[in-house]
Amino acid sequence: MELQEGLRSEDLELCFKKLMVFGASLAGGGDDRVRMDDEVTNKWKDIPMELLLRILSLVDDKTVIRASGVCTGWREAIGLGLTRLCLSWCKNNMNNLVLALAPKFARLHALILRQDKPQLEDNAVETIASFCHELQELDLSKSFKLTDRSLYALAHGCPNLTKLNISGCTAFSDTALAYLTSFCKNLKSLNLCGCVRAATDRALQAIGYNCCELERLNLGWCENVGDLGVTSLAHGCPELRALDLCGCVLITDESVIALANRCPHLRSLGLYYCQNITDRAMYSLAQGRVENKHGVWQSRKSRYEDDGLMNLNISQCIALTPPAVQALCDSFPALHTCPGRHSLIISGCLNLTSVHCACAVQGHRATSTAAH
Ligand SMILES: *[C@@H]1O[C@H](CO)[C@@H](O)[C@H](O)[C@H]1NC(C)=O
Ligand SMILES: *[C@@H]1O[C@H](CO)[C@@H](O)[C@H](O)[C@H]1NC(C)=O
Ligand SMILES: *[C@@H]1O[C@H](CO)[C@@H](O)[C@H](O)[C@H]1NC(C)=O
Ligand SMILES: *[C@@H]1O[C@H](CO)[C@@H](O)[C@H](O)[C@H]1NC(C)=O
Ligand SMILES: *[C@@H]1O[C@H](CO)[C@@H](O)[C@H](O)[C@H]1NC(C)=O
Repeated sequence: MELQEGLRSEDLELCFKKLMVFGASLAGGGDDRVRMDDEVTNKWKDIPMELLLRILSLVDDKTVIRASGVCTGWREAIGLGLTRLCLSWCKNNMNNLVLALAPKFARLHALILRQDKPQLEDNAVETIASFCHELQELDLSKSFKLTDRSLYALAHGCPNLTKLNISGCTAFSDTALAYLTSFCKNLKSLNLCGCVRAATDRALQAIGYNCCELERLNLGWCENVGDLGVTSLAHGCPELRALDLCGCVLITDESVIALANRCPHLRSLGLYYCQNITDRAMYSLAQGRVENKHGVWQSRKSRYEDDGLMNLNISQCIALTPPAVQALCDSFPALHTCPGRHSLIISGCLNLTSVHCACAVQGHRATSTAAH
């Protein structure tokens, strides 16, 4: 069978042992547009998806590929029902496997590709983009063989992406990332950790302009990111809940002040090693809290969101002094340094040892931790 070209059978077996197939459903009906040609196909269609997935997990790996390749019933049943696929730790053949499978899983909503060592190449992502148009969640992390071709393909093929993980994909450029955001405007979660070339101020301006629903963004170790980028983001993405700026060494208080003023839902902020951050930034966060409490933001969803910042990593921010960090602790009851699970990370900040933010200190801190 042509699809197995390049796949050695023992590799295939090993890989498929790690093939995890998650539940999916035919719920909601809505599948009229797929024509079922004969009775056999209809029988496959009628098998409850749970059962089908169990059969899939029992049959020998090669059978699955062969069956999905030659038998319409299988293919359509699989293609109809399977919405989430996670391939992990394939030894050598993840690229071929994706080339073979993507055309059969046209209804995928989530595709998680976990790699030990980078295997994926642009042709695999291009195949995903030309068949899986409904994709909402895609994890391509640590694929440093991928080039801008992949991002251009995704921009055209997967307009409904909401979660994209390209952490460690070091070859992507900011031009291609900016281009992607102009097509994938529904992004809610974007992991760009280590994408040093892609995550520039220019790209962040595009994200701020295009992706106003963004909730989570990881910019860890993107050392080209500066205040211009972060302020654009803060202005364009008012829904931001989690932002990791660890190791973004260029940013200053301006970035944090913009976030404090513009992103009232911010719950998690990573400023590890941002050594140009000063007390001014801490006071603006604490103050933003007070203003948000009384301002327009409070009208919506306030019942669920009045905990404010819940995670803050200011480890290695050596310019900070105790009074400023204490002001933060006093503003945000959910911040604590309880043993085991700190939510205020100040390790390595010798100057901050006098800050009292521990859960034991105040009753309400303990309560909010327990409730979490
Ligand atoms: C994208 O999502 C919208 C709204 O849910 C839907 O109408 C549209 O068909 C989807 N597009 C694709 C290619 O799945
Ligand atoms: C993205 O990929 C990284 C590296 O593989 C992983 O640590 C992280 O959990 C992934 N998911 C999200 C949502 O960032
Ligand atoms: C603080 O952030 C740094 C950088 O992301 C990370 O390595 C460290 O583990 C974080 N600290 C904690 C306790 O989460
Ligand atoms: C950040 O701090 C370094 C060292 O203190 C300084 O040389 C640099 O000019 C600062 N950068 C900005 C943008 O303020
Ligand atoms: C932090 O403490 C060190 C000594 O532990 C001191 O040299 C430094 O000036 C302090 N920094 C601030 C901002 O207080």
